Amino acid sequence: MSESRITETIEKTVSKAEELGERAQKVFRLSNGVDIPAIGYGTYLATEKDGKQTIIDALNVGYRYIDTAAFYKNEEQIGEAIAEYGIPREQLFICSKVWPTMLGREKLKQSFEDSCNKLKTDYLDMLLIHWPKVSQNDANWAEKLQESWAAMEELYDDEKVRAIGLSNFLPHHIRPVLETAKVKPMLDQLELHVGYMQEYALQYLKKEKIVAQAWSPLGRARVLGDERVSAIAGKYGKSNAQILLRYLTQRGIPVIPKASTPQRMKENLEIFDFKLTEDEISYLSCIPETGWSGEHPDMVEWEK
Ligand SMILES: NC(=O)c1ccc[n+]([C@@H]2O[C@H](COP(=O)([O-])OP(=O)(O)OC[C@H]3O[C@@H](n4cnc5c(N)ncnc54)[C@H](OP(=O)(O)O)[C@@H]3O)[C@@H](O)[C@H]2O)c1
Repeated sequence: MSESRITETIEKTVSKAEELGERAQKVFRLSNGVDIPAIGYGTYLATEKDGKQTIIDALNVGYRYIDTAAFYKNEEQIGEAIAEYGIPREQLFICSKVWPTMLGREKLKQSFEDSCNKLKTDYLDMLLIHWPKVSQNDANWAEKLQESWAAMEELYDDEKVRAIGLSNFLPHHIRPVLETAKVKPMLDQLELHVGYMQEYALQYLKKEKIVAQAWSPLGRARVLGDERVSAIAGKYGKSNAQILLRYLTQRGIPVIPKASTPQRMKENLEIFDFKLTEDEISYLSCIPETGWSGEHPDMVEWEK
């Protein structure tokens, strides 16, 4: 990648309300200068009940960032929802992911093409490698990642994707990628929420100027009822979900919550009209582990 495509800082937060919709006012800047909305709409299992209408609802309340993946099997519905909503493509930030069984140069490119076709787009704003390994017995995972990352770089250089990154990669999965990378990953999507903050990985990502993004920012509802969170929510007159999302974004971590109703979707965007104190950030950061999904990148079995 040419140096001119790189800008230095990733931590700058800038306001682009006019482009991102009234409520999703904040963006985070990736290392290549691309801005991503601080709050995206997570679509895993989101379309099970009402199909494309859920995505239309999310667009209606102001989401402009849609997080999907080949694995979610909803890219077609998302593509249809976007077409029906009729929003100009450039006003959206669409991220999809390549499943680990599709790693390797040709398969990865095929996965990208399939995602684009289903989403009815000729480019993605961001493409991520979903998991570093298919299973614990994935012997050649590091070599496979290096080859796959080179394919990601080709897509990036061909301007088919505006940003490339990883998901569920811990420092020991990222190091082999960096050994042969010409373009550094711009983002790593990890399970991050109060009760599971993976501080060691966060420290490493900060050092490498890779943005950490939170999946399951509400711990898939497992931490929503936590009374320690409720106490802070009471002080601000906010919901527990809003405290959990504000905590992450205030720490510079973009979030992609999933919600089913327009009221909850809207609530999850309304988090920038208050600020947690440093002590509250510290308190929430130090809550003992709770609400972990049970999915660990070195222990998952995606291919039995
Ligand atoms: N990269 C990866 O490996 C990976 C893994 C998992 C998830 N993700 C991404 O991250 C996104 C979010 O994660 P997630 O779906 O696992 O969990 P999440 O966003 O942490 O939590 C979703 C749950 O919280 C509930 N909820 C949302 N907003 C609420 C509110 N304001 N008040 C009360 N309850 C609320 C939802 O209920 P209702 O739906 O009933 O409203 C749902 O049960 C996914 O959709 C997906 O895009 C990525």
